Amino acid sequence: MVESSARGRVNLIGDHTDYTGGLVLPMVLECCTTIEGDDTDDGRWHLESADEPEPTRFAVSDVDLHDLRPRWGRYVAAVVHEVRALGVAVRGFRGRVTTTIPIGSGLSSSAALEVAVARIALADDSSRLSDSEVAQLCRRAEHAASGVPCGIMDQLCIVAGRPGHATLIDCHSLDLEHIELPDHLEVMVEFIAPRTLAGSEYADRVDETRRAEQMIGPLRQATVADVEAIGDDLIRRRARHVVTENQRVRDFVTALTAADDAEVGRLMVESHRSLATDFETSTPMMDAAVDRLLATPGVIGARMTGGGFGGCVVALRRR
Ligand code: GLA
Repeated sequence: MVESSARGRVNLIGDHTDYTGGLVLPMVLECCTTIEGDDTDDGRWHLESADEPEPTRFAVSDVDLHDLRPRWGRYVAAVVHEVRALGVAVRGFRGRVTTTIPIGSGLSSSAALEVAVARIALADDSSRLSDSEVAQLCRRAEHAASGVPCGIMDQLCIVAGRPGHATLIDCHSLDLEHIELPDHLEVMVEFIAPRTLAGSEYADRVDETRRAEQMIGPLRQATVADVEAIGDDLIRRRARHVVTENQRVRDFVTALTAADDAEVGRLMVESHRSLATDFETSTPMMDAAVDRLLATPGVIGARMTGGGFGGCVVALRRR
């Protein structure tokens, strides 16, 4: 019997920065996706899912993502395809997927599925690959399966994250650092509305930041003064979010380490406002949830988390 598990993730701060090589601070959650099953010699994958009516089946040597139904099977097949592209002889597999990650809620259920599949498909070759190589493989699979040009945050946090710690990731160098959460704080995640990034304005935001970079160079190195020189109002606002968000991630880590709750909370709220106004990825329901959480006793900060356009909000509360 083979078993592979991967956790969901929530981002504490640093959203819409990863695809410009910026800074992010996600952490793994307790909820996870688990695949159990057995290797087979027939060269085929056959996975049932407790949450999907139809199983996914495909031949390892003949993956055609476009025609593959049901759609969730595309994530599985895309990972198998990427692993084979590394020259690994992927075996057949028959098994079952279960998950405690709410699907389509912005807690990276698809990235967790990718990572769990990658560990099975890589089998003994897993040890050849670094965490960031596994994450990059899964990111390529996500692009192929969903068409969403996501960054590396979700996959790398899920591969490398440690329970009880946030993962500070430099999405340019892919260096990471585990930051312990202080004992007196707990993370609250509240689901607001279902969302899928496919077909959302996510890809527009990626394009808009590219346009900003054509004007002023890499946003991870840009200053607020550079941003203010951008003539186009929309592009300037998008760039301003990214540049100020990178600084907020740095300041947040400093404040968290110093147990400066007031500053931690202020930065979360500022991040939310920047995502809502400059980056326009929040929704009225998410804004209202953040305001409600901020009025809750013990809550020091709250913000939307992840890609936005629905999904979840995250808050930090004193225990
Ligand atoms: C989604 C993407 C990530 C990241 C976030 C926003 O979760 O998958 O790569 O861009 O949105 O921070």
